[in-house]
Amino acid sequence: MNFPILPRAASRVAQQTDNLYWGLIILSVVVCMIVFVPIIYFIFKYREGKPADRRPLRLPQNTIEITWTLVPALIMVCYYVWAAKQYFVIERPPVGAMEVNVIGKQWMWKIQHPEGNREIDELHVPAGRLVKLVMTSQDVIHSFYLPEFRIKQDVVPGRYTTEWFKAERLGTYHIFCSEYCGTSHSGMIGRVVVMTPADYEHWLIRGQPGDTLIQAGERLYRELGCSGCHSGSSVVRAPPLEGVYNKPVPLMSGEVVTADEAYLRDSILFPAKQIVGGYTNDMPSFQGRVTEEQLLELIAYIKSVANAAPGLRDSLEGPK
Ligand code: CUA
Repeated sequence: MNFPILPRAASRVAQQTDNLYWGLIILSVVVCMIVFVPIIYFIFKYREGKPADRRPLRLPQNTIEITWTLVPALIMVCYYVWAAKQYFVIERPPVGAMEVNVIGKQWMWKIQHPEGNREIDELHVPAGRLVKLVMTSQDVIHSFYLPEFRIKQDVVPGRYTTEWFKAERLGTYHIFCSEYCGTSHSGMIGRVVVMTPADYEHWLIRGQPGDTLIQAGERLYRELGCSGCHSGSSVVRAPPLEGVYNKPVPLMSGEVVTADEAYLRDSILFPAKQIVGGYTNDMPSFQGRVTEEQLLELIAYIKSVANAAPGLRDSLEGPK
């Protein structure tokens, strides 16, 4: 169904969300009718002066109570399961998606493509590809809202949040900020441009991207002096970063955390917060020295060396 009161659904997930929405509307209408049609009918049937049978009804009380409690409850549970399934589809990005970074700031959206292309208030994507957005804010809370894809997610400073979509149709679609974020909140709008895969490739090249995110991250990694400590041959002993991404890291405190984007980010900005077991904290904080864009580049680089050397994993797991 595609009613004119909703923006056009531009993905399969959006279509499914609409189905759920219409399912709820239909259920509400049906329940409404069951309650109100008899009310109106009885108003006329038992009107004062009408010759109606007014003797008390003898009905099996328990049967009625149980039926009108259980039947609606079961129907609502079905809807709950339906909605929960849809929620998990929306919340869990499928594997194998292309990752695009989104940085919110008062009052614009900055977009970084893995190939190095950057854009503001525009997001170019190929049709038919899974796109995962890794989002953060450099000031206040924003919310990245794509109405035609029926997805919306808060973009929070100091944190990475994600959302994903797969555009089925070519065209341009709205980007809105849907969290009040100051004077020009209403102007924080943009557009998603869905192109054919071939056009998208051309667009990437035309943008003359220069360094990819990984290359930019690697350059920063050297410029900021990370490589001075985080490499096998260095004098200062720091945990090697090859292979660390998405792996469990045992901490001094005895805790074990997963080295996801948030952990990597925290380790760069607040190195004293979570110290890797067997190491001392010699690392300075890079808070204020790197921008959100640079953090994402560094993380892209660390992710790219995730499978480079299994050496770290062995040393973390200790002798067998
Ligand atoms: Cu950004 Cu509202």
